[in-house]
Amino acid sequence: MFERLTPAVKDPILSLSIACQLDTRANKLDLGVGVYRNEQGVTPVLETVKTAEQRLLDMQETKAYVGLAGCERFNRAMMTLLMGDNSSRSRAVAVQTPGASGALRMLADVIAMANPSAKVWMSDLSYANHAPIMKTAGLEVAYFPYFDPETKLVNEPAMLDTLATLGKNDVVLLHGCCHNPTGADLSYAAWQAITDLANQQGFLPFIDMAYQGFGDGMEEDAAGFRYLAERVPAYLVASSCSKNFGLYRERTGLAVVVANTLAKSESIKSRIMECARSTYTMPPDHGAAIVRIILEDEALKNAWLAEVTSMRQRIQGVRSSLADAIRQQTGNQAFDFIEQHKGMFSVLGTNAEQISRLKEEFGIYLVDGGRMNIAGLGEKDVPYLAKSLAKVV
Ligand code: LMR
Repeated sequence: MFERLTPAVKDPILSLSIACQLDTRANKLDLGVGVYRNEQGVTPVLETVKTAEQRLLDMQETKAYVGLAGCERFNRAMMTLLMGDNSSRSRAVAVQTPGASGALRMLADVIAMANPSAKVWMSDLSYANHAPIMKTAGLEVAYFPYFDPETKLVNEPAMLDTLATLGKNDVVLLHGCCHNPTGADLSYAAWQAITDLANQQGFLPFIDMAYQGFGDGMEEDAAGFRYLAERVPAYLVASSCSKNFGLYRERTGLAVVVANTLAKSESIKSRIMECARSTYTMPPDHGAAIVRIILEDEALKNAWLAEVTSMRQRIQGVRSSLADAIRQQTGNQAFDFIEQHKGMFSVLGTNAEQISRLKEEFGIYLVDGGRMNIAGLGEKDVPYLAKSLAKVV
């Protein structure tokens, strides 16, 4: 049966953590996989998550199945977090999924079911798992210009020029905030222009919102997406609780569908549930139950928002320190963009040889393509990283 099957190519993100774990150098830095770490280098369980988890332990009376769409109270609470009082909420439905990757896959499956020849356009660069998920669902993938290697910001005119050529057969996959891998986010004006183009050309916006709260704030990070959501007839969202609730291993995510009528959205939801049934059947409950408890309790929700704020502010502080330290080491401002980037990641523009030298000579692990997990860095690591970078660039 398996004679001709060759081993898989290693995942560029997940394999890096394993390589770093095997590295015995004391000063090694794992800046690969996107997990937040505090100043002590720990990915903590949030206090509000512990509180909610305790309540769950005390109150839960059954482990019986929940349902194909997961917990509808979780789905509603998450839609409120994502959409606020957006008018498109009246046509929105959601399915709880195993992480945002699960949401991406379920939404990709339903696109393929609706239109097998649909083409999914994604930013050049994009999250390393976007193309594999879309392709495994049978969809064709194409790229629009996005990251400008010179400025390290978004080349919005080039992006918009390409989107202006798309049509009804196309899906445009956008990062809601905190672009992965680059850290370079769309301006509000770009969201406005994309909205106009979606209405003019008829393509379907598909938003991946995995880092809400890690850029400028919970509401601020959703502002561009909400502008679009108010104005287009249909869109999709994949959302994650991995980062902002720190629930990584609990695989807690959401797939949102908005069609031109609620009845149509419901009919698409039934197809997503059909896809889920033949894939994993039901999402795991534990993480979603925690999130539901937090979001339904005003005091707990506010305490959670404060925890997200403190994670965000720590990341912003590290960004400033790192940009400053590299400026001191190199005597130039070539890396000042690190301070402008949003969220956990930045693409530094380092080439393959520089990335390999950082790993071999200094024990500093970046994802191929030069993505650095700034949120994995402590203030104490900044001088060593800045010195090492200055030696290889
Ligand atoms: C990342 O980009 O590092 C994270 O989203 C983890 C993952 O699943 O790839």
